[in-house]
Amino acid sequence: MDDPDGYFGERAAATYDESSAYMFDPAVVDPAVHFLAGLAGGGRALELGIGTGRIALPLAARGVPVHGIDLSRAMVARLRAKSGGDAIPVAIGDFAGTTVASTFSVAYLVFNTIMNLTTQAAQVACFRNVAAHLEPGGYFVIEVGVPDLRLLPPGQHVVPFHVSPTRWAYDSYDMATQAMSSNYVEVVDGRGEYRSIPFRYVWPAELDLMAEIAGLLPHERWDGWTREPFTGESRHHVSVWQKPAT
Ligand SMILES: C[S@@+](CC[C@H](N)C(=O)[O-])C[C@H]1O[C@@H](n2cnc3c(N)ncnc32)[C@H](O)[C@@H]1O
Repeated sequence: MDDPDGYFGERAAATYDESSAYMFDPAVVDPAVHFLAGLAGGGRALELGIGTGRIALPLAARGVPVHGIDLSRAMVARLRAKSGGDAIPVAIGDFAGTTVASTFSVAYLVFNTIMNLTTQAAQVACFRNVAAHLEPGGYFVIEVGVPDLRLLPPGQHVVPFHVSPTRWAYDSYDMATQAMSSNYVEVVDGRGEYRSIPFRYVWPAELDLMAEIAGLLPHERWDGWTREPFTGESRHHVSVWQKPAT
């Protein structure tokens, strides 16, 4: 991937809000914003991978000062074009290492975006980077899926998740390395186009260990933003770690 905007370059950015419309539904956004505003408790928030502002803008509208980090100028240009988007400071860079000159009472990384870091070392670096930006007592929140390995029959490593006459999509898993990719084949103007996005899937317990390495303590883990219990059947989780107050 040579594009400095990573996998969220101009083309992905131009259609992001439309293609992720279900994630912009107030029924999805409002509980997340409520959860994060509660943890911010009157302080500042930092969104890693702020994108087009799906969560940042409504959180800022609630009075929480929000900063962001994102690799993609194209995504941030969409944020800037929205009402209130100009008022949100965004550092362009990799959230595993990019710093901003402020500290925060909450930092958050939603919509599976921790998996965009494709090595364990980069994911650990992200936790360390967040810890360095948190005020004592501050929180780090991750929303991410539980790896879907239970969908794989023995001997298979591919899970289809969309099949239609003009579009096929599947996830591919490498159990040895935790590398995965989401792959899309689409017929556009009679021609097949292929796109593949690499990820690294990560287990809840592994995230806890990354937090510990970064000096953060487990605070809470739920199945979703409205604090439904996290169980062995949960397909995703919202997890929170806290920087010790002293
Ligand atoms: C799935 S989108 C999520 C955007 C937004 N948080 C949301 O919930 O709609 C992922 C975003 O993370 C950004 N991103 C991915 N990997 C990144 C990295 N290593 N450093 C900084 N930004 C990254 C992408 O550019 C994109 O804007």
